[in-house]
Amino acid sequence: MAHEITLLPGDGIGPEVTQATLRAVEATGVTLVLDEHKAGVSALEAKGEPLPASVLDSIRRTGVALKGPLTTPSGAGFRSVNVALRQEFDLYANVRPVRTMFPGRYRDVDLVLVRENTEGLYVGVEHYIGVGQDRKAAAESVMIVTRFGSERIVRYAFEYARRHARRKVTLVHKANILKLTQGLFLEAGREIAKGYPEIAFEDRIIDATAMQLVLGPSKFDVLVTENMFGDILSDELAGLVGGLGFAPAANVGSGVAIFEAVHGSAPDIAGQGVANPTALMLAACLLLEHLDEAPAAQRLRAAVQGVWQEGRVRTRDAGGRASTAEFTEAVCARIRGAQSSA
Ligand code: NAI
Ligand code: MG
Repeated sequence: MAHEITLLPGDGIGPEVTQATLRAVEATGVTLVLDEHKAGVSALEAKGEPLPASVLDSIRRTGVALKGPLTTPSGAGFRSVNVALRQEFDLYANVRPVRTMFPGRYRDVDLVLVRENTEGLYVGVEHYIGVGQDRKAAAESVMIVTRFGSERIVRYAFEYARRHARRKVTLVHKANILKLTQGLFLEAGREIAKGYPEIAFEDRIIDATAMQLVLGPSKFDVLVTENMFGDILSDELAGLVGGLGFAPAANVGSGVAIFEAVHGSAPDIAGQGVANPTALMLAACLLLEHLDEAPAAQRLRAAVQGVWQEGRVRTRDAGGRASTAEFTEAVCARIRGAQSSA
């Protein structure tokens, strides 16, 4: 069956890892019909704006997008397109699964972080407070936590756990210090957990969790947390499995889902054909699952994992010499090999 999706190849290494990923998806036999658009710096150059209305229209219509990284200039310049997409489609759940791909410090990491994507400190409500002549004597930032947002994200985590036969959900918070904001998040989470008696539930403090993850990641299964803690923990999780080149993400709202790699546009290696496409290929696995193509997702994931486990074809970021194209060919060959021996 063919599925129409919106494709945003993105900036920097985006087009390279996107092409690689599409080749690998094609090898699984699933047909993606692509409505391709520029966004980010490439759209700014071509159309004068980083997020043209045609991009939003396309995503609204298809409901599904595969997105390469988008360059966001620091400081002045335009607002992050990633943030704009999140807000436009109310993509409240940021889902980041991490698994061990090759033998490293840990052998069997298999964790999923569900991060609340719309509230907390990242609402960006900030101001300076002046004292006398000093207009920047202090700065203040507001943390917004709603019962609605908290219940919605914890319910998402439990539904995810149920769908993927996961055994435990850990809610991560700092309610011992931030008694109202984090307390409300915890309270809402405990209420929701009652509706899922078959899945174990625990809550843990953020700082202790950060340490426990390093000591023994296998103690955890699904983690759910608020925006900023989730931002930090998700990069820590990527570190457990080899770095950002191995971390996929799904941004999910009601009716729209956008799949991407966690890494950025890597301007330092763009155009050289050496980027590691693993993260976006794993994001494509999440996309295929979302499209009810779980067997294809499984074939692609197994092929990517197989290439890394064998260790012969490694990209430069993981100490190898393979180009993006060589790595991609190795993945495609494995998919074809598995299909012909099945
Ligand atoms: P980055 O992730 O692009 O690069 C950090 C380092 O990791 C660089 O040395 C890069 O070469 C390497 N790297 C990243 N992905 C790689 C891959 N697939 N294969 C091999 N090496 C890889 O982070 P940086 O430099 O902080 O950001 C660059 C731009 O990307 C910025 O404009 C930033 O705003 C944007 N960005 C976009 C994201 C998105 O669209 N989701 C996420 C993160 C950053
Ligand atoms: Mg981050």
